[in-house]
Amino acid sequence: MKPLKVNKARLWDSLMEMAKIGATEKGGCCRLALTDLDRQARDLYIQWAKEAGCSIRIDAVGNIMATRPGEDMSLAPVGTGSHLDTQPTGGKFDGVFGVLSGLEVVRSLNDHGIKTRHPVEISVWTNEEGSRFAPAMMGSGVVSGRFTLQEILDKTDVDGIRLGDELERIGYAGDTPVTGREYHAFFETHIEQGPYLEAEDKVIGVVTGGQGQRWYDVELTGQESHAGTTPMHLRTDALTCASSLILAVQAIAQQHKPGCGTVGFMQVMPNSRNTIPGKINLSVDLRHPDDAQLSAMDAELIKTVERLVAETGVQIHLKPIWYYAPIPFDKNCIEAVRGSAADLGYSHMDIIAGAGHDACYVSDFAPTSMVFTPCLNGISHNEIESTTPEECEAGCSVLLNAMLRMAEVVSADTDLEEETLVLHRVGEL
Ligand code: GLV
Ligand code: MN
Ligand code: MN
Repeated sequence: MKPLKVNKARLWDSLMEMAKIGATEKGGCCRLALTDLDRQARDLYIQWAKEAGCSIRIDAVGNIMATRPGEDMSLAPVGTGSHLDTQPTGGKFDGVFGVLSGLEVVRSLNDHGIKTRHPVEISVWTNEEGSRFAPAMMGSGVVSGRFTLQEILDKTDVDGIRLGDELERIGYAGDTPVTGREYHAFFETHIEQGPYLEAEDKVIGVVTGGQGQRWYDVELTGQESHAGTTPMHLRTDALTCASSLILAVQAIAQQHKPGCGTVGFMQVMPNSRNTIPGKINLSVDLRHPDDAQLSAMDAELIKTVERLVAETGVQIHLKPIWYYAPIPFDKNCIEAVRGSAADLGYSHMDIIAGAGHDACYVSDFAPTSMVFTPCLNGISHNEIESTTPEECEAGCSVLLNAMLRMAEVVSADTDLEEETLVLHRVGEL
């Protein structure tokens, strides 16, 4: 079979249409998980998936599954998908590209009248970003059994609003069970979100696995006191201590290359310019592709906290809230991505995912891999996140062909060797 290409203009138009929901002034998107904007994006996606002939199911954690039937519905589907939620200053492509690539695969299968043996299923996973509700990858994590449904429904955002209540409010607490999901194979398409494909001038990243992560909530308690009357040697300043901790997180990551360490969230109490800060809440995010190195980073963080408590008198409560070890993807799925990229004539390289992805948790219960495409200057989680229609077409075409390798073509209206329309005469069908 000749490799097929998807419809570049249709994929791009859909991305641009979806990006209007939660559009920001700087050209990005703010569509936090389970907000009204997330609901609007979900509604639009379901409308499109139905128009493409898919049936829709929604599970108890709000994941949306759109299914294009296969010839043998007793077989597990070949799956794809990603997320529609974004960071507060997110771009137009992180996650959305993976969801709409799945939709474009279905639309392309329809264009060619391709019947597959396995059904094809596109998932929209709930709260992949972990920004409004921590941790990340919740929808796929519940399905994989990493999290219980109840613990996720009980998570709260920074204002104390419960995830389960938001799911009900936006009408996406579905009745499909979160257990028993199966895929014959699963692929997720995503912008790389890093600099490597661009630096190496490659069109496709063949993703061989994802790095491990450890997340923490940290509370530092010092003593509020007057900024003008408390001598420097008598202060227990929680913010100064937090500053030392933040620098230590950076140093720990730098000592464990290619590890990453980030403090991205902080609340300062009482946040008044003439009161010494008494309480700080902050987040720590540590990542490494090697689990032993990630453990070493964890041990150094704990030692740093002990040292800072002894040196400053600030009390520090370090609460681990999330851990997963580095995840290797499935050899056959990796080969399906690599082979499809080669068949299409795209330059490609193997790559490890630095970000968390739903595919990492899907790989707990199904053979999985991912397709990466470049993004401008490697920038993501930023409103200026940028890619091109050609890069999207390439990634989505690799997805289409990788999925077809696994889903098996039964028949088509197009001669797939010649890409010409097969004219069926009445009586021959
Ligand atoms: C999700 O985008 C993550 O990697 O933090
Ligand atoms: Mn993403
Ligand atoms: Mn993201």
